[in-house]
Amino acid sequence: MSEMRLIMPAPQDWAKLEQVEEIEQAAFGVDGLSVFNISLFARGDSLYCVSIDGRIVAEAIVLYALPSEKLDAVLFSLAVHPDFSRRGCATFLLNKVVEILKDKGFASLSLTMNPENVALKELYIRKFGFEKKADLGSHPVKKETRHLVVKQL
Ligand SMILES: CC(C)(COP(=O)(O)OP(=O)(O)OC[C@H]1O[C@@H](n2cnc3c(N)ncnc32)[C@H](O)[C@@H]1OP(=O)(O)O)[C@@H](O)C(=O)NCCC(=O)NCCS
Repeated sequence: MSEMRLIMPAPQDWAKLEQVEEIEQAAFGVDGLSVFNISLFARGDSLYCVSIDGRIVAEAIVLYALPSEKLDAVLFSLAVHPDFSRRGCATFLLNKVVEILKDKGFASLSLTMNPENVALKELYIRKFGFEKKADLGSHPVKKETRHLVVKQL
């Protein structure tokens, strides 16, 4: 497979943002972000993508808390194009995001997940060492359990 590259598309690079939208819709259906909202995240330096041969194959959206004693970042979204799953794209992207956040002085990265999702348990808990911080109860729409998990950086 060709080399993976980390890119941060510009907020008006519609061709690339439409590829991100396609990945969001495939992963999250009606909850997937529209190209307009993705553009806003790009404007806030929150959109990180993996590109292979110029095509976007994975995306992550990271939110940054206001400066307080310890800087915490939140992984709002992470998705890989179905044609590129199980090839290490999520691992590559998460490693890059963690590296960048560490360099910027962030203390932790947190996210919410369904603890019964085997792929996410494998990825976040086993591979990346996220730890459960709180049980958030049932998701109001999906009716599935959510856990807040945190990785110290
Ligand atoms: C979950 C997701 C991000 C994984 O992306 P990926 O690029 O396929 O993941 P990687 O290839 O980097 O795999 C990393 C590890 O995750 C685990 N994993 C990934 N997919 C898995 C699956 N279907 N079943 C079991 N474990 C899985 C494995 O431990 C894997 O390591 P290994 O291949 O060395 O065994 C991707 O399947 C996806 O976009 N899912 C839909 C959206 C979603 O649920 N996003 C997360 C919530 S925000």
